[in-house]
Amino acid sequence: MDRLVITQLSPQDRELVARAEEVRGNAYAPYSDFLVGAAVRDAEGRIFTGANLENASYGVTVCAEVSALAAASSAGCRSVTTIAIAGGPRRPAEGLESGKLTMPCGRCRQLIFEAADVAGVDVKVIAVAQGGQLAGVTTIGALLPAAFGPADLAPPSDAAA
Ligand code: THU
Repeated sequence: MDRLVITQLSPQDRELVARAEEVRGNAYAPYSDFLVGAAVRDAEGRIFTGANLENASYGVTVCAEVSALAAASSAGCRSVTTIAIAGGPRRPAEGLESGKLTMPCGRCRQLIFEAADVAGVDVKVIAVAQGGQLAGVTTIGALLPAAFGPADLAPPSDAAA
């Protein structure tokens, strides 16, 4: 994963990061106090955002990435190219490592993988460190190698049968 200072990102990626940080302010996370925002860009330049949504029944919590991807999909978007994620505790502990990134959890990686598969691109993943000055930049292919995906559900071809 490349580690960059935010000014090294393209203007488009910086805009996406800013949108992720903005929507993080709407996170509903009273149980973990860990606020996450995500912003998705598609090939047309459209941006969709989402924040984590917790619940008194803890296990039904929805991650920010899921919220953003669901918003994109619900708007008919099938060409996701990039996702930016901004997360961290509401009140960072004293001495918290300043460059600490919030990376997508396993379930989110699976959902990003399918969005990438549908779009036919290796989606860029930008994780922003708290404070917004540093970012980790990678791709879903690197984060979820040898993934299970739509191709695994295809029936075997005659040739292979
Ligand atoms: N969370 C996300 O929204 N995205 C991730 O990739 C990691 C975790 C949320 C879920 C929960 O509301 C809080 O962060 C603590 O796990």
